[in-house]
Amino acid sequence: MTLTWDMQDAKSTDDRDVVLEVKDLRVHYATPLGDVIACNGISFKVYEGETVGLVGESGCGKTTTAMGVLRLVQPPGRIVEGEVLLDGVDVLSLNEEELRRVRWNQISLIPQGAMNSLNPVMRVKDQIGDAIQTHESRAREAVKERILELLNLVGLPARVYNMYPHELSGGMKQRVCIAMAIALNPSLVIADEFTSALDVIVQRVVAQTMLDVKDRLGMSMILIGHDMGLQAQLVDRIAVMYAGNIVEIAPVEDIFEESLHPYTQLLIESIPSIKERKPLKVTEGLTHDLRNPPPGCIFQFRCPYVMEHCREVEPPLRELKPLHEVACHLFEEQDGKIVDISDESVV
Ligand SMILES: Nc1ncnc2c1ncn2[C@@H]1O[C@H](COP(=O)(O)OP(=O)(O)OP(=O)(O)O)[C@@H](O)[C@H]1O
Ligand SMILES: [Mg+2]
Repeated sequence: MTLTWDMQDAKSTDDRDVVLEVKDLRVHYATPLGDVIACNGISFKVYEGETVGLVGESGCGKTTTAMGVLRLVQPPGRIVEGEVLLDGVDVLSLNEEELRRVRWNQISLIPQGAMNSLNPVMRVKDQIGDAIQTHESRAREAVKERILELLNLVGLPARVYNMYPHELSGGMKQRVCIAMAIALNPSLVIADEFTSALDVIVQRVVAQTMLDVKDRLGMSMILIGHDMGLQAQLVDRIAVMYAGNIVEIAPVEDIFEESLHPYTQLLIESIPSIKERKPLKVTEGLTHDLRNPPPGCIFQFRCPYVMEHCREVEPPLRELKPLHEVACHLFEEQDGKIVDISDESVV
């Protein structure tokens, strides 16, 4: 089958304000055997009120991207290059004091494994209170009022105020982490695998709470995860990462109905289904050593459609349809149309 569509439609139609724009972010980790290239030139935007999902297999660089955006990359990691524009201001150029004001106030993070990192000997009120007081001076009564308001917002009863983390279930702990992240009304929250440690029922309830809170407060969100099924229900756009690169980014319906990148297609095919019992799809081959990315396309070793050209030239991320960007040589512009050439050139 040859797919075609008009190139003139292929321009962004989103006129919402851009809250975050990441441009060519590169993060390396130094190791004795050379630098691990964890983010290899990541670029994407998040619009006002939007939820963007960041998906990809373990080790593809999702957490590193989040840490890069917040400038929290720790040695042996370092940000090599890039811009992180938050409401137009480059986070990477701020001094420590300016950075302190931006974190939590404008952008906050629910780190991977956050609920297990709550301080076991501190009551909930003190942990959330600390988060507020570190960044904003408020009278004690005002802080208490704010904490109770936050607990209510994330669906926790007021008695949680005086409790310790070990007295809470996983779902409740995760809600405390959400309350901390939104304590100062940031315009963007990044949640890294924030439901991974929960069972599927609680996972969905907590995820729904997160979305409700987001809508009520009018924030934008980046949801990091590897569960495509869960992401489908939660996000507006999905960015698919492979070995430190975004290979496709598109509205969620487009990703599921007409994904273009062969890696995205494999990810979707590998979602198990009870209705239709089929052998589990296994992606053949291994990701290359991140210290030595090959010339050309990073997915070449596992791509079923690899062509000679793919081994030589790196495909840029191009917007082929409105808000639908893909980095793949299978799509060529011919007479103003983008043509899927896979049936002609599969090797
Ligand atoms: N401190 C470190 N030293 C060396 N390499 C590292 C370090 N931290 C991360 N990496 C490497 O960077 C790459 C990206 O890691 P990252 O944690 O960002 O992946 P991820 O997509 O968040 O994975 P997961 O889904 O397992 O959380 C991986 O290959 C990882 O091995
Ligand atoms: Mg991670």
